[in-house]
Amino acid sequence: MKKNCIILIIILTLNGCQTKTNTSNKTIDSINTKVDSLLNIMTLDEKIGQMNQYNGFWDVTGPSPKGGDAKYKYDNLKKGLVGSMLNIRGVKDITAVQKIAVEQTRLGIPLIIGNDVIHGYKTLSPIPLAEAASWDLKEIENSARIAALEASAAGTNWTFAPMVDISRDARWGRVMEGAGEDPFLGSLIAAARVRGFQGDDLSKHNTIAATAKHFAGYGFSESGRDYNTVDVSKNTLYNIILPPFKATVDAGVRTFMNGFNELDGIPVTGSSFLQRDILKSQWGFDGFVISDWGSISEMIAHGYARDGKHATELAIKAGSDMDMESHLYIKKIKDLIESQKLDIKLIDDAVSRILRVKFELGLFDDPFKYLDSNREKEVIYHPDNQKGVLEMAKKSIVLLKNENQLLPLKRENQTIALIGALANDNNSPLGNWRTNSDNNTAVTVLEGMKSYQENKVIYSKGADVNLNDNGVVKFHERVKINNNDKSGFNAARNVARDADVVIMVLGEDGFQSGEGRSRTKIDLPGVQQELLEEIFKVNKNIVLVLMNGRPLNINWADKNIPSIVEAWQLGTQTGNAIAQVLYGDYNPSGKLPMSFPRNVGQIPIYYNYKNTGRPGPKNEVFWSHYNDELNSPLYPFGYGLSYTTFEYTNIKINNKIIKKDKSINVSVDLKNTGIYKGKEVVQLYIKDRFGSVTRPVRELKGFEIVELNPGETKTVNFEISESLLRFYSANEIWESEPGFFDIYIGTNSNATLSVSFELVK
Ligand code: BGC
Repeated sequence: MKKNCIILIIILTLNGCQTKTNTSNKTIDSINTKVDSLLNIMTLDEKIGQMNQYNGFWDVTGPSPKGGDAKYKYDNLKKGLVGSMLNIRGVKDITAVQKIAVEQTRLGIPLIIGNDVIHGYKTLSPIPLAEAASWDLKEIENSARIAALEASAAGTNWTFAPMVDISRDARWGRVMEGAGEDPFLGSLIAAARVRGFQGDDLSKHNTIAATAKHFAGYGFSESGRDYNTVDVSKNTLYNIILPPFKATVDAGVRTFMNGFNELDGIPVTGSSFLQRDILKSQWGFDGFVISDWGSISEMIAHGYARDGKHATELAIKAGSDMDMESHLYIKKIKDLIESQKLDIKLIDDAVSRILRVKFELGLFDDPFKYLDSNREKEVIYHPDNQKGVLEMAKKSIVLLKNENQLLPLKRENQTIALIGALANDNNSPLGNWRTNSDNNTAVTVLEGMKSYQENKVIYSKGADVNLNDNGVVKFHERVKINNNDKSGFNAARNVARDADVVIMVLGEDGFQSGEGRSRTKIDLPGVQQELLEEIFKVNKNIVLVLMNGRPLNINWADKNIPSIVEAWQLGTQTGNAIAQVLYGDYNPSGKLPMSFPRNVGQIPIYYNYKNTGRPGPKNEVFWSHYNDELNSPLYPFGYGLSYTTFEYTNIKINNKIIKKDKSINVSVDLKNTGIYKGKEVVQLYIKDRFGSVTRPVRELKGFEIVELNPGETKTVNFEISESLLRFYSANEIWESEPGFFDIYIGTNSNATLSVSFELVK
């Protein structure tokens, strides 16, 4: 160990070693003191190094790189010019790089190791959009906890999740990574995920720092094309886009990531309005902001920065603290400081933020605390994790249609035809954004179905999922299955003809949604729609199980197929979760977190729209509508059925007037009128009749998951306070405005049971 490294440790030890977050002011003070002491002895180069993050650059346990980019990065790591690395995985490799940082650099400052742990590390939970369909905040928190347990055991101490971008556009491939279209649900889920990753004590070896991303507006990319321009009003920014980000700050999230998009003419990576004014100043965020991959240099292509040096200056001034893979901070900051284009105070602020999080993680106490190979072996794929993701997966499934009681399936003496390539696919159900996972590790639907042994299951593929249906994108080795081959139709027809029930598993390949996977068509890819229609001709008893990372256009299926199950991409336990739901061992309870359009032309489509001056419907031409399609979605936000039925009655309000600082109670009776025990997500929406800015037709403001036995009734209560009615008003502040409000309670966003009240001030 070098002499100065020892000096550093002495400084830190003198200042005490607790590193808890979210605890006492004393602890925070002590971390701040340590940060200041360290900052005092750092050279400018070392400071800049902390702001530099590299992608994993060489086979770290092999020989050191001899030349090129890898050699350059490796040398910088040894010089203490790297603060963080991403995409290095596993105890062995991370130990190797951490050792270089800690033992070979002058100050021995540990690296913070980031990875995209989006829906699990190795044991995968459902894609985030699917999890959102559960509306089950505890389960979602637990799912993030499982991800953190595995990631931390494998050496990662920082995840680039949750993505909290609201989106109303199913064409955008990244909707699979978010919580859907609603800011209220999105905020609660965002906070739950942060709690799950970070736990209550960041200094533990099994908690990891979370990242709220992509700040902000990325989900509103024009026409759903990834990385495209974003042009939204302040009204939408504050009322729709920002609330989930704010919720993560309130939940103590330690890092933010900016994004690739521009907002109001400024690339968000260069936006001091977002990063300095809102995030760091108004919201008091004291963690750090990481750029998105190369987003600092991308400001040149945006036409906002002249060159790399200018981009660096703009990004730092705007509050982007760490550079992910633009390689600009490390090359340009020094010059900008020396030429007085940048104030050293900005660098000190950024570095302090980064060091603070490293202290909070306990990395200075023990840089190798995440690096225990025994723990890694024990925790990865632990049966408890499998159990957890199975629970999450079952809760994520949404029953879209169930006519003729086709579901749940009978348990005996049935011949079941199982059709579709996805039914026997152990990779696609893992979904996208699972860079740490092992391929082909999902339980297939075929396997899940076969575990119910009293029935006979006959599988026939029918057709492949056509991965490349727009003929442009060639991004994955599975592109070789790109064809419109119908040669399997006959065999599938034969299997279907004599079956009691046909289960068709159709949808998207696991890599058909995600980053860079925008689509202009959201139909079933390839010849799957044709396959569905062909099978329907020989057997109408079809259960359509959808696997997809975004809402799809399933109009034909909705009209013709008796049972439709939205199963998204459910992760490792996919097959078991689907089989248990199809057989009724779990009664589906999920509700859509995004509206399903009837037609791609309706997009963007969302439940909390504005009324317009010509809302209709009218028997004439001049109202806001389409001539060739309804305005309403095929399935609205919040929609989802159960094997049982529920009845809502007796909505009551205990006071028709709300005064500031007071709240009122609204209740409704929910009865299970069917024959199965089941869960219902009781949803409460509020319409603010008018305001200083126009208000949505309704907004989700509460929900509760209620489980009832057949015949059982429960009164569900909601408290409504003035604070629930606040929005970003014409005064450009969050406030409520006096006036009349309507409450709607029911089973989805079309709920009709209603009462009204007045807010007086
Ligand atoms: C994505 C981020 C991700 C980063 C690192 C970028 O392309 O936009 O969400 O965290 O890559 O993998």
